[in-house]
Order: sequence, then C-alpha cells, then structure tokens
Amino acid sequence: MPIIYSKHPVRVWDLPIRIFHWLLVLAFIIAWLSQGDDRYLDIHVFAGYLFFSLLIFRLIWGLIGSKYAKFANFPYLKIVNYLRTLFTKQRQHYLGHNPAGSWAVFVILSLGIIVSVTGLLTLGGEERHGPLAGMISFELGDSFHWWHNIIAWFMLAVIGIHILGVLVESWLHNENLIKSMFTGFKPATTQSINVPKHSLIAIFLVCLTIVGIVSYFNGYLLVKNYRPFVGPELPNNATWQEACGECHLAYHPSLLPARSWQRMLAEQANHFEEDLYLEPDVIAELQTFATENSAENTLTEVAWKNNRSIPTEQSPLQITKIDYWVVKHQDIASEIWQHPEVNVKGNCPACHQDAKQGTFEDAAMYLPE
Ligand code: HEC
Ligand code: HEC
Repeated sequence: MPIIYSKHPVRVWDLPIRIFHWLLVLAFIIAWLSQGDDRYLDIHVFAGYLFFSLLIFRLIWGLIGSKYAKFANFPYLKIVNYLRTLFTKQRQHYLGHNPAGSWAVFVILSLGIIVSVTGLLTLGGEERHGPLAGMISFELGDSFHWWHNIIAWFMLAVIGIHILGVLVESWLHNENLIKSMFTGFKPATTQSINVPKHSLIAIFLVCLTIVGIVSYFNGYLLVKNYRPFVGPELPNNATWQEACGECHLAYHPSLLPARSWQRMLAEQANHFEEDLYLEPDVIAELQTFATENSAENTLTEVAWKNNRSIPTEQSPLQITKIDYWVVKHQDIASEIWQHPEVNVKGNCPACHQDAKQGTFEDAAMYLPE
C-alpha cells in the first residue's frame, strides 16, 4: 500500500527559520566565492559576520522557537532505525527534521561556529582587524587560517550530503522539501497543527541584517577612494626617503630583514654598480631606522612572509629575488613587465598604490592598462 497523504498542508517551518536558512545559504555562497583574495576580503568578512550571527540566532531559536525548530524535539536517537528502513516500505516519515536532517543541522552548526571563530582568529592575527585584532600573533593567525580552510571544505562536504539527503527524502516520500523550506508547509497524514508564523521576529531578523549591511559598507558611500582592510600606516623617516628615494622607490625597511639592510649599507660604495656616497652619521641613522622597522620587527603580511621565505643564513639585497616575491608575481604576463609604466620589477608603485607606505595590501593593488 503506498502512503496516502491527506491534502492538508501544515505549516512546519516558521518564518524566522526559513529566513535563517536561506540567508545562511547566501552567506555561505558569498563567503565561498570571495575567499582567498584580499581584494574581496571586506565582502568575505561581512559574509562571515552574517554567517556567524545567523548561527547564533539559530542556537537561540533552537531553544525558544516553534515546535520543529527546537533542538529538544529533534529525533537524533532514531537515526539507526531511520537509515535501516530508508529504502524499504517501513520507512518513516517525519514532519519536522528527520534523524539524518537533525544530525545535518547539528554538524553544520558546529562546523559553522568553528569556521567563524577560526576566521575571526585569522582576521585578528593576519590582518590585525576585527574584534580579536592585536590579541594574536601573525604566526598563530596563519595557522588558524589553515584550519579555517580545511574546516570550510569539510562544511562544503556536509552541505553536499545534506542536499543529497533532501533530494533522496523528497523522492522517497514524493514531496518537495526544498519548496517547503520556502513556503513553510508540508503535507501531513494526520491532522497536525500549524506552528505559529512568528512574523515579528522575522521582520526583526531582516531589519537587523539590513542595519548590518548599511553600517558595515558605509565607508564606500562616505569616503572617497575607500580602501577597506588597508592596515595602519607604518613608521617612516625623512632621511631614508631622501637618501634612498632618489633613484627608485625608497623601499620600506619592513621588506627585508635587518641583516640585509646592514649588509646593503656596509656595501654602499658598490650599490648595484652605484656609489651612494653616504656620510657615516647618515649611515648610522639609516641603520637605526632600518633595524627598528625591518621585516622581523614589523607586523604586516608582506614583512612576515618575506622574512619567513628568506633562509636565516642569507642576507639578500634584492626583494625581487625572494621566493615569496617570485611566487606572488610569476603569473604576471611579460607584456605587463615591459609596460612603460613598469620597466623594472623593483618598480613596485607601478602596481601597488601603497608601496611607499610598505603595506602592500591586495586592496591597493592594480595592474597598469
Ligand atoms: C644612485 C642611485 C641609487 C640610490 C641613491 C639608491 N639606490 Fe638602491 N638601487 C639602485 C639601482 C641602480 C638598483 C638596481 C635596480 C635593478 O636592478 O632593477 C637598486 C636596487 C635596490 C634594491 C633592490 C630592489 C629589487 O629589485 O629588489 C634595494 C632593496 C635598494 N636598491 C635599496 C636602496 C636603499 C635602502 C637605498 C638608500 C640607502 C638605495 N637603494 C639608494 C640605485 C640606487
Ligand atoms: C607589474 C605589476 C607589479 C609590480 C611592479 C609589483 N607587483 Fe607585487 N603584485 C602584483 C600583483 C598582480 C600581485 C597579486 C598576485 C596574486 O595575488 O596572485 C602582487 C602581489 C604582491 C604581494 C602579495 C600581497 C598579498 O597579500 O598577497 C606582495 C607582498 C607584493 N606584490 C610586493 C611587491 C613589491 C615589494 C614590489 C616591488 C619590489 C612589487 N610587488 C612589484 C603586481 C606587481
């Protein structure tokens, strides 16, 4: 005997649950598409904040929401029986989450919270932004970044399984579960009762999201040439600018370790076939400034990564020979290097608006036309 559903649709998902679900999907997609490139970091971070806030809402709603939203009503323990009978005639039909769906919610919420927290730790450590800015070292931020990526992939896999489960369940029970997550209604065999709609809470949720969007992105409306996530200005020095800015960009000392600058100043009479003719007192001042602000003493991404990619027994004089630099620039077409505005590899300002400050943020990067 096939199961016959009465044609009575029953509201199972209240409005806040549905809005939560689809906003979460949207936040995940945006975060996924904007990952990996600092130019879209502000969008990625916003998607992360939205994602995290939604998860927190869901945790609260799981305690105080309507019947099928409450974690206490999830049939977690029936999972074995559910899966065993899934492809038989004895398969069970659940009006709210079935046991597999309940586990999917639990795993996605847990992974989502771990991804959000490791994201905040990465942001605080690597970019020195967000609520945890300045509380963690660059190195720690970098290792959290690794976890952030790995767990995001795990979450993608679980989402894949979840979608597969929804399709299988829809097919087996001949109902459209995706549609019910939009309408809130599912066909019920017994005369079950509609859950309340909770429209006021749903409106509150939407308003809060809009306020979040406006307050996060208002820099684009209020500030000319807004460049989000460009770090604080690094210290500079007039003597350095004067002595080293004459023939090329006065490279910020954070681009090389102190031992490189010491070697360069010691060999100043033979500086790439030029003699710099610097007086001893000038040399002393340049030494102090370069050492205090060298790669190992500066907290920018470029300083940290340049320093890490130079073996400790080497004191290179050329930034453009450092492994990290070479890797980051290997995909740039040769026509661009020959462009009249570029000419030489060491001409960083041709492509990095913040080269003089030494921050080298992705958000400040552009290629000459
Ligand atoms: C008289 C001109 C002149 C002055 C002054 C000068 N440089 Fe240079 N510098 C050069 C030349 C020429 C090169 C080689 C450029 C090339 O190979 O593309 C160079 C290259 C460099 C490089 C390597 C850039 C790369 O491609 O990675 C660094 C770093 C550097 N200079 C630092 C300094 C510092 C620090 C000072 C100040 C103490 C300074 N320079 C002053 C002429 C100068
Ligand atoms: C011809 C244009 C061009 C020049 C000149 C150039 N860069 Fe870049 N740089 C780029 C591009 C494009 C990227 C982005 C590569 C990517 O992310 O795949 C980049 C990336 C970087 C990054 C990595 C930023 C990050 O956060 O991932 C650093 C650091 C950097 N450049 C430093 C320098 C320095 C220092 C110089 C000068 C010695 C320089 N660049 C010269 C085009 C240029």
